[in-house]
Amino acid sequence: MKNIRTFENHIPQIDKTVFVDESAVVTGNVVIGKDSSVWPCCSVRGDIHSITIGQRTNVQDGSILHVTHDSDYAPGGFKLTVGSDVTIGHNVVLHACTVEDLCLIGMGSVVLDGSVVQSGAMVGAGSLIPPNKILEGGYMWLGSPVKRVRELSDKEKSFLSYSAQQYVKLKNRHSAG
Ligand SMILES: CC(C)(COP(=O)(O)OP(=O)(O)OC[C@H]1O[C@@H](n2cnc3c(N)ncnc32)[C@H](O)[C@@H]1OP(=O)(O)O)[C@@H](O)C(=O)NCCC(=O)NCCS
Repeated sequence: MKNIRTFENHIPQIDKTVFVDESAVVTGNVVIGKDSSVWPCCSVRGDIHSITIGQRTNVQDGSILHVTHDSDYAPGGFKLTVGSDVTIGHNVVLHACTVEDLCLIGMGSVVLDGSVVQSGAMVGAGSLIPPNKILEGGYMWLGSPVKRVRELSDKEKSFLSYSAQQYVKLKNRHSAG
C-alpha cells in the first residue's frame, strides 16, 4: 500500500522538495510546503479536517498529527496548522492545534485541541499543552500541564532557525539516497 494516501476526494498536496520517509503515512486533506520533512513512522492524517504544514518544517520520527471533526461536542471541528521553520521533536502528538512559525516542540510532547503555540516559542521535552491554551512566543514552556518558565536567550532564539535549516540539509541528504 502507498504511504501517501487519498481519502475520499482529498489527495495530499506535497511539494516536490518535501522528504516523506517511506514508513511515514500522509493521508487525505494535507498540504506540505517546500523543503519540509516527515521522518520515519509518522502519521499525518487529514481525514476529518485539514492539516497544513508550512515550509522548512521537520516532523521527527514517530510523531502523530491529527484533527477533530465537526460535531455538537466541537462545533466546526478543529484543523491542524503548523507554520514554517518549525521543529517537531521525536514522538510528538499534535492534535487539532496551531503551531506558528519558528517554534520547537520538544520530544514526547502532547499538544491538544484549539491550543496555539505562538511564533518563537520553545516547548520542553515531555510537555502537555491543554486544550485552548495560548503559549506566548519568545518563552520557554515546560511541564505537564505546561507552564511558562522564562524568556528564551538570544542563543536559544537563534537555535530555532538553525534547527530548521539543519533539517533541510539532512532531508536533502536522505532524498539523495
Ligand atoms: C528544557 C530544555 C531546553 C533545557 O532547558 P534548561 O533551561 O537548559 O534547563 P536545565 O537543564 O538547566 O534544567 C533546569 C530545570 O528544569 C528541569 N527540566 C529540564 N528539562 C525539562 C523538561 N523538558 N520538562 C520539565 N522540566 C525540565 C530540570 O530538571 C531542572 O530542574 P531543577 O532546577 O528542579 O533541577 C531541555 O531539557 C529540553 O526539554 N529540550 C528539548 C529538546 C528537544 O526535544 N528537541 C527536539 C528534538 S531534536
